Amino acid sequence: MSTIVPLANIDPALVEELLDRAFGPDRHARTAYRMREGVEWLPRLSFAALDDDDYLVGTIQLWPVALTDPEGRAHPMLMVGPVAVMPERQQEGFGKALMLAALRALDPKAALPQVLIGDADYYGRFFGFSADHTGEWYCPGPFERDRLLVRCDNPAILPPKGMIGPWLGAASGN
Ligand SMILES: CC(C)(COP(=O)(O)OP(=O)(O)OC[C@H]1O[C@@H](n2cnc3c(N)ncnc32)[C@H](O)[C@@H]1OP(=O)(O)O)[C@@H](O)C(=O)NCCC(=O)NCCS
Repeated sequence: MSTIVPLANIDPALVEELLDRAFGPDRHARTAYRMREGVEWLPRLSFAALDDDDYLVGTIQLWPVALTDPEGRAHPMLMVGPVAVMPERQQEGFGKALMLAALRALDPKAALPQVLIGDADYYGRFFGFSADHTGEWYCPGPFERDRLLVRCDNPAILPPKGMIGPWLGAASGN
């Protein structure tokens, strides 16, 4: 059983430790970090999973990013991740509980498209993410094309081409 709480309730040092355990200490070099460089995670959409003994076992963070199309227009999106579960506590349902908490926290009437870099087997099978609409999207660094996934109620609104990066308009309050 897990308890899902806002990530803002957790000591940031414990979150960093968990992320190092799940992704390795070289995680900061990943393209996913460049996609959200300079923006803060969204406190109302980011969560932690605690086990029965109140130990931190998993986290999820969502970030304001945008896909900039070839005409220079920014299309705001939400970047999902990292989703991280302590290696020794994986496959117990914590990852799914964290994903469902974040997806349920989205405004159903005005949810932005959600983008992530991850395994389609996991994020497609359980949560409806796919690479079907990301074939001409780019990221600020190397990535595997079949791992760039998006989830959107109405894929018709998705720009066919563009580059994903931090949504700095969100950081400045514009
Ligand atoms: C990926 C991750 C978040 C999944 O969380 P979890 O708590 O281990 O997974 P859950 O218990 O919620 O889900 C288990 C199910 O997902 C499947 N699954 C888990 N990881 C998977 C993966 N990478 N690819 C495909 N399926 C996966 C399991 O086979 C299992 O399926 P079943 O229900 O049919 O038996 C976790 O393994 C993790 O932190 N991994 C390291 C960091 C990482 O890669 N994060 C994702 C990129 S941001």
